[in-house]
Amino acid sequence: MSIDQGLHCTADRVSLTHRAWVEVDLEAIRHNIAAIRRLLKPSTQLMSVVKADGYGHGAVAVAQTALSAGASWLAVATVEEGLQLRKAGIEAPILLFGPTMCKEEIEVIAEHRLQPTVCSLDQARRLSEAGLGLIPIHLKVDTGMSRLGVAWQEAQELLSAIRILPNVTVAGLYSHLATADAVDPTTTREQFTRFAKLVDTLRRQGLRPPLVHLANSAATLAFSDTHFDLVRIGLAQYGLYPSSHLHTVVALRPALALKAKIIFVKTVPPGTGVSYGHTFRTGRRTRLATVSIGYGDGISRALSNRIDFLVRGRRARQVGTITMDQCLIDITDVPEAFDGDVATLLGHDGEECVSVADWAERLGTIPYEILTALSPRLPRIVSQD
Ligand SMILES: Cc1ncc(COP(=O)(O)O)c(C=O)c1O
Repeated sequence: MSIDQGLHCTADRVSLTHRAWVEVDLEAIRHNIAAIRRLLKPSTQLMSVVKADGYGHGAVAVAQTALSAGASWLAVATVEEGLQLRKAGIEAPILLFGPTMCKEEIEVIAEHRLQPTVCSLDQARRLSEAGLGLIPIHLKVDTGMSRLGVAWQEAQELLSAIRILPNVTVAGLYSHLATADAVDPTTTREQFTRFAKLVDTLRRQGLRPPLVHLANSAATLAFSDTHFDLVRIGLAQYGLYPSSHLHTVVALRPALALKAKIIFVKTVPPGTGVSYGHTFRTGRRTRLATVSIGYGDGISRALSNRIDFLVRGRRARQVGTITMDQCLIDITDVPEAFDGDVATLLGHDGEECVSVADWAERLGTIPYEILTALSPRLPRIVSQD
């Protein structure tokens, strides 16, 4: 085991020095990439989406693992994220999902061979006029997400205009699906049809870019006709499902666990108010454990009194308001638990498991937000086995 960024230490040192941490199982990521690859035609490439620090798992470790497991492309949101991968010695092609805003960014893009997204002629011109050599770009088409991208009806005209610029080459054409995770396929079908028609028109005119891509994780699992030349896989490579109805398609393994130490244990009488605001009051003589993790580490305060932690393979109710650095659990029914024990917030302990999806459901959000909220204050401890 080694810590991906920041401190480097062995598993023993980790258990001595860390109050709370994220464990990342790279073997699970390898398994997930291989499982997803089996859903693809051999000629379809897989792009590993590692923006937002690899959805909180550590971008460099995830990128290296995904590439070794069958991904051939990487995607990030920002120039800084792309640069971080290059600085780690990663040579694979990298797509920037965000458009390029300024001269300084264009210089980094050219020097570090990042491939930017382009949505307008102005953006393409800025890249070309920088005069920094031929920059491969991916033209983004809005087929119904209404976020980034040229309107699908105008894409052919824009592509033709960009093709005559001297210093850019259109390496890719792509679009993003708004509802691929929904059970109802109507909107995805509509977006797919618009995109497929555009691709077909461009092909007939000899203008089809080499790399055409549309599918995110949900579409990759649910709609094989959206695969085109490449699929862009984020959530699924981390072992999570974009929607519960996709569980049957492929067996994924969650790669992330969240753990923290119990740092203090005491027994309090019935009727004791617990933590800020006394949002919990004990109903019995209670063994309370203080766990060294809080909302400053990215676990939502809105989860207060609503989740279980796992201690010695058993569930222990989180009680009272979660504070910035600590929170409390009721370990009355785990009498052998003491300070120094590890509490699992997300992941397995024995037969018990708490999933990211459980938290997302309780908070009325999606797993993406739970993962990316985990603070950089939590060391990422990476395990290969
Ligand atoms: C353009 C684009 N493609 C692909 C993805 C990956 O999506 P997912 O994590 O659902 O696979 C994202 C993520 O937000 C995205 O913005």
